[in-house]
Amino acid sequence: MSKLFIASEIFHGAGSLQELKNIEGKKAIIVTGGSSMKKSGTLDRAIAFLEEANIEVKVFDGVEEDPSSATAMKGAEVMHDFQPDWIVGLGGCSAIDAAKTMWIFYEYPDTDFDSLIKPFSVPVLRKKAKFIAIPSTSGTGTETTGLAVITDREKGVKYPIVSYELTPDIAIVDGAICASMPAHITSNTGLDALTHCVEAYVSNIENNFADVLSKGGLEIVFNNLQEAVKNPTNIVARQNMHDASFMAGLAFNNAWLGIVHSLSHQVGALYGIPHGCSNAIFLPNVIRYNEKASNRFPDLAKVIGKETAEDLAQAIEKLRGDVNNIGSIKEFGISKEDWEKNLDYITANALADPCTGFNPRKPTLEELKAIYQACYNGEVVNF
Ligand SMILES: [Fe+2]
Repeated sequence: MSKLFIASEIFHGAGSLQELKNIEGKKAIIVTGGSSMKKSGTLDRAIAFLEEANIEVKVFDGVEEDPSSATAMKGAEVMHDFQPDWIVGLGGCSAIDAAKTMWIFYEYPDTDFDSLIKPFSVPVLRKKAKFIAIPSTSGTGTETTGLAVITDREKGVKYPIVSYELTPDIAIVDGAICASMPAHITSNTGLDALTHCVEAYVSNIENNFADVLSKGGLEIVFNNLQEAVKNPTNIVARQNMHDASFMAGLAFNNAWLGIVHSLSHQVGALYGIPHGCSNAIFLPNVIRYNEKASNRFPDLAKVIGKETAEDLAQAIEKLRGDVNNIGSIKEFGISKEDWEKNLDYITANALADPCTGFNPRKPTLEELKAIYQACYNGEVVNF
């Protein structure tokens, strides 16, 4: 028996931001990033819709890329003073993930951050506030996942906080918000959504719902990502990518991910490589590695008119290039000396990452290290 976890209410389609005017409550805090939501006018529109619903609004802005636990604690203090009954994460996944983490510390101020790292250890939420997620990027699917990724800068480690308590109450999937997203972020985040489709489909949790969503999401990404990168104001392509990102998020929220994410979390924390960018570097080689333990890749390849796991890996490499992404870690500008100095450390952390447990093939430390090395050099994995 299984339970499907999903945001309770999902508003989707261009213009769905206006659903905020139908929210019932007293006080809402909007958590957002640097300036893009302000510049595009989305923040002001969100505030106006909430005020139309007679809700008092406060804004916590300036959440950085790869938000830190320190930022989350700061936001929780602001929430403690304001006492909102709605928390609205508005922006990229960094803003929404930070808002989710603030939510935990708002409801449980004495929580020890280290205690949250253990999967499913978040206490019962919604005693003080409920959560609305409004993504401005089409990638992580955080608007429907029980996941928040927070970085401990001192240790150089990204921690996924995993709990179905963090699945938002309301998701607003409005592709028009994404029109101002720069091409490189559209590319990176779209490749993250693509990775979610593949990893959820082959994960070791069997789930018919995740299978259908993964296949559908993969098809939409292949049909729309290039267009969204090239013509950012094409709202149809934007909405399609936003829908695909949600579907991929819903798929992996219920089937989980694999070692592409385990490998990616480490290079993101240590070198700041954008998450979707590193995913797209690792994904083709991880498909080649996992193919030895999973017979599911040909089914997935068929969705895009291909036949084999190798075809799928090569189609992803082609798409990666078509949307102007790099194909190896060294192209990010990391020296061989620096890479080799940190390789054992990141490999050990990748093996310990919670996503490793859901990979269809159980990796050894040596295998993960060899995948890292091949992807650093831009070589093909053949074991
Ligand atoms: Fe991801």
